[in-house]
Amino acid sequence: MAIAFVEGWDLVQTLGEGAYGEVRLAVNRATKEAVAVKIIDVRRVAATAGPETVRKEICINSMLTHSNVVRFFGTRRDGDIHYIFLEYCSGGELFDRIEPDVGMPEFDAQKFFRQLLAGVEYLHSLGITHRDIKPENLLLDENDKLKISDFGLATVFRHNGRERRLSRTCGTLPYVAPELLQPDPTFRAAPVDVWACGVVLTAMLAGELPWDQPAMSCMEFVDWRQRRLHVTPWRKIDSLPLALLRKVLEPDAEKRATIPEIRQNSWFNHTLKRGVAGVRRESGESGLGSKRICSGFDLSPGSLASDERVRYSVSQPEPRLTHPSPSQPTGSSINALLGGLSFSQPLHPDHMLLSSQLQSTPGSSQNPWLRLVKRMTRFFVRGAAEEVRSRLSEVCEGHGLSYRQTCPTQVTLSTLDRRNNKLIFKVTFLEMDGRLLLDFRLSKGDGLEFKRHFLKLKGHLYDIVSKPTPTSTPTSPTPTSPTLTSP
Ligand code: ADE
Repeated sequence: MAIAFVEGWDLVQTLGEGAYGEVRLAVNRATKEAVAVKIIDVRRVAATAGPETVRKEICINSMLTHSNVVRFFGTRRDGDIHYIFLEYCSGGELFDRIEPDVGMPEFDAQKFFRQLLAGVEYLHSLGITHRDIKPENLLLDENDKLKISDFGLATVFRHNGRERRLSRTCGTLPYVAPELLQPDPTFRAAPVDVWACGVVLTAMLAGELPWDQPAMSCMEFVDWRQRRLHVTPWRKIDSLPLALLRKVLEPDAEKRATIPEIRQNSWFNHTLKRGVAGVRRESGESGLGSKRICSGFDLSPGSLASDERVRYSVSQPEPRLTHPSPSQPTGSSINALLGGLSFSQPLHPDHMLLSSQLQSTPGSSQNPWLRLVKRMTRFFVRGAAEEVRSRLSEVCEGHGLSYRQTCPTQVTLSTLDRRNNKLIFKVTFLEMDGRLLLDFRLSKGDGLEFKRHFLKLKGHLYDIVSKPTPTSTPTSPTPTSPTLTSP
């Protein structure tokens, strides 16, 4: 099942959602080119932002061309609905690579941190600050290359060589720099992004966020300021990266390491070996954090569900070739998406069956492995959809998660996380190859908390979780198509 979007293109999957609207995957039926489409309904964002904000996001996107920034193809508009066409990152979100309370191999953390820094340095060189750097906004392409995404909060801090200080407090609390939380703040933009990169690095190396917010009311932040490094998450981090973190997470913005200084850092330049664990300073059982709450769930490669190890190879359209000109991009079939010359008719509601009209589009679903964004937060289960639904509902009830069927193929789960913040995620039931895939997607809240809950639920469903089978590995793609299944 797919939604016919623009002639020749199908909207096949929701990739993400937020207050603005959602991001969908669009696939060209003939060429299999894939793009991510951010769909913004300005009526929905009007209360907080409005059309001006959308225009700004589009304008900033159109200025960007860098291998560590999600590529922008163009935009089109239909009344209050804006479509932003972006590079499809089939590797999913960075937060999905972080094992809660553990992190990821130091080699990978260093690689992603270097790429993140290259992207942020590029943005700053253009006078642009992202203002919401966090693992959920860092995507990975099919080669695991990091791409900075979502410029909905980005702004210009330097123009014609003149820098302006900022005063608007925005971002996500655990990632914001302490200077933003001062009364009537005015602050420099670049150090705020650098701080967020430090929090991301901490999450990658320790699998947890260091604090709820960098304020003196937060004990963990006070500990950090007092250099109490024997506590978690710092005790899990090797002394070399920890020395870098001390400079990046320097509370005084004036003294905080700059990007050129980070580039000089010894851990940043240190050659690590893939697969060799860093020396964790922490002592104790299995080298894992004392606060580890998701013990008992194996995340080693062999334990992953079959789809989690699939290599994706959806082709991407040619990028625009000339100076950004979103309404008239050059090259390939993306023209149709952008409403360019190769699209024979003007945008018409008949071509935009976006709301509820589902239709079967035979060419859109030949190979499901080419469609699904790589996500660790999904697994196959055995059993009929109805039984699985009732098991999931029972498990949720036992864990204080509210369970609501929101559409025939989807349930919405919500709870408060351990920081008392709202956490909402959705589970889509997809039938594939006669098996049932439960696909979990964060809707609102912290990515790491979402992952913790996912692992807990998966653990409680262990008796029906399918082990990977050799027939569904990347080398032998499954020929049938995924269909949405009513639980
Ligand atoms: N989620 C949000 N934006 C995305 C993109 N460009 N590619 C894949 N998933 C996404």
